[in-house]
Amino acid sequence: MKKLSLKINRIEGEIIPPADKSITHRAIILGALAKKGLRINRALISGDTLSTVDCFRKLGKEITIKGNDIYVAPGPLKEPIEILNCQNSGTTARLLAGLLSAQPFYSVIDGDNSLRQRPMKRIVGPLSMMGARIFGRQEGAFLPISIKGGELQAIDYELPVASAQVKSAILLAGLFTEGQTTVREKIKSRDHLERMLKYFGQEISLEEKTVKIRGKKKIELEGGEIAVPGDISSAAFLITAAVLVSKSRLIVRQVNYNPTRIGFIKKLLQMGARLSVLNLKEEYNEEVADLEVKFSELKAVEITAEEVPALIDEIPLFALLATQAIGISRISGAKELRYKECDRLRALYLNLRKMGARIEEQEDGLIIEGPTRLKGAEVQSFNDHRIAMTMIIAALIAEGEMSLDILDCIQISYPEFRQHLLTICH
Ligand code: S3P
Repeated sequence: MKKLSLKINRIEGEIIPPADKSITHRAIILGALAKKGLRINRALISGDTLSTVDCFRKLGKEITIKGNDIYVAPGPLKEPIEILNCQNSGTTARLLAGLLSAQPFYSVIDGDNSLRQRPMKRIVGPLSMMGARIFGRQEGAFLPISIKGGELQAIDYELPVASAQVKSAILLAGLFTEGQTTVREKIKSRDHLERMLKYFGQEISLEEKTVKIRGKKKIELEGGEIAVPGDISSAAFLITAAVLVSKSRLIVRQVNYNPTRIGFIKKLLQMGARLSVLNLKEEYNEEVADLEVKFSELKAVEITAEEVPALIDEIPLFALLATQAIGISRISGAKELRYKECDRLRALYLNLRKMGARIEEQEDGLIIEGPTRLKGAEVQSFNDHRIAMTMIIAALIAEGEMSLDILDCIQISYPEFRQHLLTICH
């Protein structure tokens, strides 16, 4: 147990958050397919993205990292001799499975204990419909899985769960498949892969909730250069701190403001947060903005199933905010949170209840009544980076001593978290 002793007066300052994790993964993957290679400026260098780099090195790619820049050299993918260990990264495992299903070689994908418990049927199902030969425990429901890649058939597939990872896996397989692969979504999930494919010259049709891609055996993506904007999901921790701690004012620069990712910002505004969006512009086919946020009095709001994909990774923070908002906040249609790096609904319920929150756990969400004065407690991260960081932000407003079991997991998405927090805590 580590004591969290960050007693502060206010949050103040300016921060450039770490680069977006989803975009960095996709840049490495598409960079590996680019005919001229790809220079990725301002990439996220963290546990999860290094897992993707490691897998592509095992697939024969030459990748160099200098500071926060990654260079992926041109050259073919090769059959890996070693197992591709995705460690804690669901995005790496699922997107790789899609890509490797269409490559003319054999590969094995594995992960750490957490990833071995996360559902893979959601990708193995549609990829098998395309003709991929994938084997694993319980018919490929869990890692490790082995893939005998080869020629696939295009499919027209409606996603049963709103998941950008599943959509991206099918599109990456479809990229190498003759004919038109169509993915239909009921609720639109993050579209970074689609945007980047378009930016690299791939023909792709994007309607509101339908993506169509015409694949070829040999694809020729442009590549060249790209820069990654800041991760709104990481910035959200500091934004939450500024909203919750009195007298605070924080500026967050160069954050990705893609409409499929800003559910959290929209929700904060609905709750009455004093937040402004500044300097909105487009870079490399992604929106980027600066945000100014101040301490705010909050009122309770609801999150419904339709809203979940655009704020899925920020729900832990929303739960914390809800403990300080006036009224009853309800999160529903969020069962997917049970299949993340840990069961996040359970983790939030257990931790926030220990801190004195009025919280109820539902099958697909949480009900939280606020405002409550949170008190310090011994809480757990469940080895999940987002739960760990949420609890550290909770400690800023808790009365009394707070301690947390595992902090190392924070390096999965935000290695500079401690340093950034110390910079803005006064
Ligand atoms: C991600 C998609 C989301 C998100 C995860 C990253 C991605 O997962 O929770 O952190 O990069 O595609 P799902 O698509 O499975 O909901």
